[in-house]
Amino acid sequence: MTDPASIRYSLADTLLASARALQAVHEGQSLSDVLGQVPAATRGATQAVTFHVLRNLGQALEVRHMLVPKTPPVPLLDALLQVALCVLDTAMQAEALVAAGKTPRADWPVYAVHTAVDQAVEAVAGHRQIRPFKALMNGVLRRFTRERDAILTRARGNPEARWNHPNWWVRRIRQAWPEHWKMVLGAADFPPPMTLRVNVRQCSQAQLLAELAASGIAAHAQGPSGVVLAHPRPVHDVPGFTQGWWSVQDESAQLAAPLLGVKPGMRVLDACAAPGGKTAHLLELADIELLALDADPVRLERVQQNLDRLQLTHAGVRLLAADASKTDPWWDGQPFDAILADVPCTGSGVVRRHPDIRWLRRETDIARTVALQRRIVKALWQTLKPGGHFLYVTCSVFPQEGEEQARWLQAQYPDAVRLEAPGQLLPTGPEAGDGFFYALFAKQTGVDKNNTP
Ligand SMILES: C[S@@+](CC[C@H](N)C(=O)[O-])C[C@H]1O[C@@H](n2cnc3c(N)ncnc32)[C@H](O)[C@@H]1O
Repeated sequence: MTDPASIRYSLADTLLASARALQAVHEGQSLSDVLGQVPAATRGATQAVTFHVLRNLGQALEVRHMLVPKTPPVPLLDALLQVALCVLDTAMQAEALVAAGKTPRADWPVYAVHTAVDQAVEAVAGHRQIRPFKALMNGVLRRFTRERDAILTRARGNPEARWNHPNWWVRRIRQAWPEHWKMVLGAADFPPPMTLRVNVRQCSQAQLLAELAASGIAAHAQGPSGVVLAHPRPVHDVPGFTQGWWSVQDESAQLAAPLLGVKPGMRVLDACAAPGGKTAHLLELADIELLALDADPVRLERVQQNLDRLQLTHAGVRLLAADASKTDPWWDGQPFDAILADVPCTGSGVVRRHPDIRWLRRETDIARTVALQRRIVKALWQTLKPGGHFLYVTCSVFPQEGEEQARWLQAQYPDAVRLEAPGQLLPTGPEAGDGFFYALFAKQTGVDKNNTP
């Protein structure tokens, strides 16, 4: 029998696997679910190519449409054309950079131009269903190599191709952030930095930096408990992961727990907790009594795993799979001193981390998500103690989910006093944090207002 470790995977195999993943995203599946089904031996390469393709998909779609105006009859062939056009374009860009004495970006999957063409044709030839289209793939890619500049100039007349986001998304970001829209859209083109949050119960920022330096891992401090690695790497290759010294958490997300100002003994609700990044941070900061809810029981298991690894599980922590917008099953009538409402959102602030999000969302999702967020806030506000603090958070850059929701909350509840918080954080470039929104409220004491929703 063949030893699986001895099997060599070609670029043709990777292109085909990436095309299958892209087809699944086009059909509405999330990329992480799809990649979870790819065999471990090929997952890394497939992920690298697919992430890159999704970050450049607007252009690939437009170019495919220009060169093959009629949608190919087999969806896998269409996806493979998009993947191949993107990989070939990157190969040509890289070749031009090298010829000019420059270095291509480290996150690009770079292959020689002739390899990209040959292997894409090979991928078609190797799959029974699409084999008859070998000549089509060959012709399209060779035409692209000859006419690239003219083709791209024309393609980029379409904002979707220029900015690699759906047109409705470009329009909304442009409208919302007239001075920063290019920066916000452009930031999604880069992979995020790998930022760690030190678990201050196990380790200090200085200790972690020293351990990293001793292991030859370049890193620098970020904020009070963040550490940014110069180059992302698997978590198990970084000292202290299994010992629970740190968690991976973006610098924008690291602001949540400190903003809530939890103190020992407080009764705290984390209403949308999974996978538990902010839950753990709250528990690292103070000995609190914590109820962590999430509507998704499978995601909630990850909260438990994270708390176990970080050694934060104790008698005062309770995890419950429940819908935060319906209090009956989980609220005993005892009000909370502090509530973290890290509500479900479109995720438009974390598209560089999840490059499939922009292609999976529909414009109508915004209104649907806004309505869900309001239902959750309405239920939670009544569980907050007078004098208590309420932190509303999203990882979105659409103001409908951010500032407009904060204003709605204030209008809805006369006893809500808005406190200092960062508001909208925009992703400003490759080194910056994710797009987040933070609004902090105190529930005024002694206000006799009928604010039951
Ligand atoms: C932005 S994520 C939370 C991230 C988490 N706070 C962290 O820092 O790791 C939003 C979460 O809300 C959950 N969710 C969606 N609808 C919900 C509902 N009605 N009640 C409670 N949780 C909900 C989702 O399953 C998802 O895990």
